[in-house]
Amino acid sequence: MTTANSSRETILNLRYGEQTKPHKLLWNEQIAALLQHRSVRNYLPDALPDGALESMVAAAQSASTSSNLHQWSVVAVTDPVLKAQIADLASGKKKDANGFIKRAPAVLLWVADLSRNNRITCEAGADTKVHDYLDAFVMATVDAALASQNAVVAAESMGLGVVYIGAMRNQAKALAALINLPQHSFVTFGLVVGRPANNPEKPETVRPRPPQEVVLHHNRYDAARSMQALDAYETEFHKFREGLGMGHWTWKDSVVYSNKFEYMDGRENLRHTVVERGFKLL
Ligand SMILES: Cc1cc2nc3c(=O)[nH]c(=O)nc-3n(C[C@H](O)[C@H](O)[C@H](O)COP(=O)(O)O)c2cc1C
Repeated sequence: MTTANSSRETILNLRYGEQTKPHKLLWNEQIAALLQHRSVRNYLPDALPDGALESMVAAAQSASTSSNLHQWSVVAVTDPVLKAQIADLASGKKKDANGFIKRAPAVLLWVADLSRNNRITCEAGADTKVHDYLDAFVMATVDAALASQNAVVAAESMGLGVVYIGAMRNQAKALAALINLPQHSFVTFGLVVGRPANNPEKPETVRPRPPQEVVLHHNRYDAARSMQALDAYETEFHKFREGLGMGHWTWKDSVVYSNKFEYMDGRENLRHTVVERGFKLL
């Protein structure tokens, strides 16, 4: 595990392994902290430190928001019974796949939320037509994502661990009912937060990322360069899995698996639910 004092070399080695590393980084504490992110799925049951939630939300509110419209909300679930129900919804057919949600002290549900502004517009007697378009849906979803990521950075700066839960969309309709979501809003994803248990038998280390050539294009998109740079990532991905005693499975296997229909586990109904919840997606 890395610490606040880990050296730049150690941090870059964990993030990129033996692949080409970015040489020209302008290093500072904030960048060092960002580069040490790792998802945590093993939590101590301790409650969040007093003020942690409020600090995360202040960070979230400090993210940019489209046109200053604040089209997101967050529902912090700490009630153990409700949290267990939500964990079961997110686990779906893969029984207890997200069971760690039950053990963590909180799961934050990030809501793409047009409901307030829809109401304000209706109360003003104005037309809400713009909310019927796909762009309004994208705006709210992007706002929720930016806000949540700021909360992640804040949480990690306090020594807390997090993991996003896209599986909150598996049973989107049931989840919305469970937490009394108003129309014109839907849970984009969850974020589990708590103290990492740091179990040495199940270490949760920094996952290597592909070299920058895969994602960074200069001026124009260069598909061939991007695809070619993935070869180095496969090697690094293999080493990472081997180090954790995991079986043979390439990164491209994960990509292909993510295209199997069963992977959706209920998310194939998302469009229907989102439309039912008032987004027309025109
Ligand atoms: C929007 C989003 C949804 C995710 N959903 C899940 C999930 O449902 N369950 C899970 O265990 N991890 C989930 N993750 C975590 C990713 O698997 C993880 O970020 C990725 O493997 C990279 O690992 P790292 O975060 O440790 O660097 C999600 C991440 C994102 C950004």
